Amino acid sequence: EPSTETPFGDSDFVVVANRLPVDRDPDDENHGWRTSPGGLVTAVAPVMKAQEGAWIGWTGVADEEFEPFTIDGMHLTPVTLTSEDVLRYYEGFSNATLWPLYHDVIVPPEYHRTWWDAYVRVNERFAHKIAEVAAESATVWIHDYQLQLVPLMVRRMRPDVAIGFFNHIPFPPYELFAQLPWRDEILRGLLGADLVGFQRPADAANFRRAVRGRLNFSTKGSTVLVPAGEAVAAHVVRAEAFPISIDTPYLEELAKDPGIIERARQIREDVGNPKVVMLGVDRMDYTKGIRHRLKAYGELIAEGRLNVEDVVLIQIATPSRERLEQYKIIRHDVELAVGRINGEQADVGSIPVRYLHHSYPRDEMTAFFLASDVMLVTALRDGMNLVAKEYVACRQKDDGALVLSEFTGAAEQLTGAVMVNPHDIGNLKAGILEAIEMDDKTRARRMRQMRRKVATDTVSLWSKNFLAELNHLKHNPEAVVPD
Ligand code: ADP
Ligand code: G6P
Repeated sequence: EPSTETPFGDSDFVVVANRLPVDRDPDDENHGWRTSPGGLVTAVAPVMKAQEGAWIGWTGVADEEFEPFTIDGMHLTPVTLTSEDVLRYYEGFSNATLWPLYHDVIVPPEYHRTWWDAYVRVNERFAHKIAEVAAESATVWIHDYQLQLVPLMVRRMRPDVAIGFFNHIPFPPYELFAQLPWRDEILRGLLGADLVGFQRPADAANFRRAVRGRLNFSTKGSTVLVPAGEAVAAHVVRAEAFPISIDTPYLEELAKDPGIIERARQIREDVGNPKVVMLGVDRMDYTKGIRHRLKAYGELIAEGRLNVEDVVLIQIATPSRERLEQYKIIRHDVELAVGRINGEQADVGSIPVRYLHHSYPRDEMTAFFLASDVMLVTALRDGMNLVAKEYVACRQKDDGALVLSEFTGAAEQLTGAVMVNPHDIGNLKAGILEAIEMDDKTRARRMRQMRRKVATDTVSLWSKNFLAELNHLKHNPEAVVPD
């Protein structure tokens, strides 16, 4: 209940995401909290550490209530999810309907009305929390596909605040999006924001096309004209691309740390000091193309084009969404493939795939990046892929090669990578060999070019640009209305 003296809260800047930057883990030494998985938290946490504000989100456990608390300088306001919310809103609608639908239906999305009802209910809970916490005329920044209805809900309750939304994952082509039984509600929900940001210009264009096709609203350039509707005034919305990035200065610092450099040397030694160390780092997710990567690598060894004594693949896969059927299947398939390659191709002394199904601290992750000559990012579809940018930021000697799927947002920025189509196993194999055999001069030139790109396009610049535009739109709405 907001207090009666003032309907407003205290926070001038509010970040909202399904997850808080930390997850409840009673076994963890850090007061029972550990860093949450995924690119959203990696990107947004440094932004929040650098400025005052509140972060509204879920703790990762069901049925437990937590008071607001502060950790690493970030002020966190937990939202409670019941076990049923976790089942229907989080695992169901968010991750078994929207996630596969927005990632090119790599696996079939499921449509269930009970999941949708839970999605509406939880989005309402988030919106109420925002209305309670946000100060008058605050800036509210809502993140990702789990919360697409929140912008309109907040606009109805709090027309005074500036509302930004950023979608971290792809926005699908109209022909796929149109499958969604609740497509119009999702579009209206997003159009409650003043600014809707996407990873790629193509995602923003897909969204605007869906808005024209389904709602018949007119668009001009990146502007959408939204007529007056139920409990909302007519307004304009901008929908455009803001490609997200990483905290480059922080990673560059880590990559220079003598302790981490020594750890990288040790990792190479532990895998037998082969000529080439290759690395894959992903959440265990069917969008990441881990099976395709293993298939290509296994064939190269079986055909004798790679020698098990010369090359090792380290595949790190973070546990993710483990109760969902499709995530059980991908884990099973990956583990089967790893077992098969190692069983058929290993010698007692050389094991071609080192498979690690764990999460690691930042320092250790940086050591893995430093230890590896070739980074394999072979996602079948990925909004951005921060791992690719992290690898580049760490290679300050310009001595690594990146194999990068053309279906990642990062491919638009990291043009010095060896681009591959992971669906084409022949092309993937050729890309891996090209990266391994590239001459030092070419490798250095291409890495230097990519390193400059991530050195300038940092996540702090990304948030600055997004928030500056949001602020501009809120305070000069007439300037954005096209003639
Ligand atoms: P996604 O958001 O789909 O998980 P991204 O590549 O954009 O994919 O972001 C993943 C983030 O999680 C990166 O910052 C990466 O370094 C981190 N990460 C991935 N795997 C692990 C792991 N096993 N341990 C720790 N961090 C990990
Ligand atoms: C991606 C999504 C995030 C999500 C993360 C981890 O990065 O864009 O919204 O938080 O994956 O997934 P999880 O389901 O564990 O939150």
